[in-house]
Amino acid sequence: MTFPKDFLWGGATAANQFEGGYDQGGKGLAVPDLKTVGGVKLARRFTPTVEPGVYYPSHKAIDFYHHYKEDIKLFGEMNFNIFRMSISWSRIFPMGDELEPNEAGLAFYDDVIDELIKNGMTPLITLSHFELPMGIVEKYNGFSDRRVIDLFVRYAETVMTRYKSKVKYWITFNEMNFGAMDHGELTVLGMNPNDETIYPNGAKTNEKVRFQALHNALVASAKVVELGHNINPDFMIGCMICHITSYPLTPKPEDVLKRKEFDLLFAKFVGDVQTRGVYPAYMTTYLKNKDIFPVFEAGDAEILKAGTVDMYTFSYYMTICITTDENADETGGNLMGGKANPYLKASEWGWQVDPVGLEYTLIDLQDRYNMPLMVVENGLGFADELQADGTIVDDYRIDYMRDHIKAMDSAIEKGANLIGYTMWGPIDLVSAGTGEMTKRYGFIYVDMNNDGSGSLKRYKKKSFDWYKEVITSNGEKL
Ligand code: BG6
Repeated sequence: MTFPKDFLWGGATAANQFEGGYDQGGKGLAVPDLKTVGGVKLARRFTPTVEPGVYYPSHKAIDFYHHYKEDIKLFGEMNFNIFRMSISWSRIFPMGDELEPNEAGLAFYDDVIDELIKNGMTPLITLSHFELPMGIVEKYNGFSDRRVIDLFVRYAETVMTRYKSKVKYWITFNEMNFGAMDHGELTVLGMNPNDETIYPNGAKTNEKVRFQALHNALVASAKVVELGHNINPDFMIGCMICHITSYPLTPKPEDVLKRKEFDLLFAKFVGDVQTRGVYPAYMTTYLKNKDIFPVFEAGDAEILKAGTVDMYTFSYYMTICITTDENADETGGNLMGGKANPYLKASEWGWQVDPVGLEYTLIDLQDRYNMPLMVVENGLGFADELQADGTIVDDYRIDYMRDHIKAMDSAIEKGANLIGYTMWGPIDLVSAGTGEMTKRYGFIYVDMNNDGSGSLKRYKKKSFDWYKEVITSNGEKL
């Protein structure tokens, strides 16, 4: 095994998917607090206000808000040396635009961060993980309004200053490349689907506003990277890209070309800007041809250049195929599906399992960016079953992770500068895509159901001891 001796092993979470306490400690409403529970066949709804009698999973989630000591102790027991979490902007600035932060919100994160450090973990903090304050959505239409750049910077400055000696690793926006897709308009950029100025006559998407809002968010991210380096030059700040690795379905040149364009547009564009500080030529041309190239205000180009990230952090779950053949079989996926790969099997949620694709991705990213890499999300969502004796035998999860860890090992051997791995959802939490509890990723089972019933009791799954052993042996005992 080739994992470096200080390799970072741990797990990743997001505030809105596990904290609960959505209205406690002065927290304001955030986008997920208005997203209903869904399912494989039932899309989540975003409602303008909290509707009576409807279940919103982020409100309780798994109540980490009141269980953090117990949960962090369990992560420590597995020997995690890193833990990825997000800070919920609306706990710190309830509407997003107050002048002074909410002390109760900060106090909660003070305790969580201290508890992590006490249990041997270095925190990795995401500043914006699909949970923009509703004040930012309703009053500003999210990042489509340039004023939100400085509101985000104010929030980032508050927490980066407060935790400058306790937190080294930061991510500005989770899966920011999602902001280049129509269904990322609300989730990443905060564009209000109920706003007629952006969505006239029932329009479902607005590409021009989307790419302007994404540009503004890229500027905000770059400003925060530069600011973070001023606050503490030792900070390691990353982008976070949902790397949707794709293959041409066939060697037909048209398929190969289409796949290349897909890769540049959805998997590479945002990471290219965040690592290199300039818009790549292919994207500039693409946007100009469609007349949707964003307005650059004076100074934007310099800001992007000055705020390039220190590491390329990304999520990897599955791969898809691309082809010009519209009749090819479909498969599901993270953020977006694609065409099915006849050589791969998919999970119950239609995500194709592809460990070799992770090795391929790591080699590809190392070659393109030549900087430290971190896999900050990877895992298997599965409908685990709690047995009468309190055990959960999740060999399928162990198999999935073993194969992906082997793939990382092999990529390191081939030159990938991989510094860490935080698997997704070390404790069962609410699915971002479907809002369910049934889609479980954790080493720790939480007795919580899709409708909010359940004792919230925590149980160790079989994979708990397995991952502990992986970490203790630094990836040798798989
Ligand atoms: C990523 C997100 O897209 O995938 C997480 O950053 C999300 O928030 C994860 O939970 C898995 O997706 P899902 O839909 O299974 O929760």
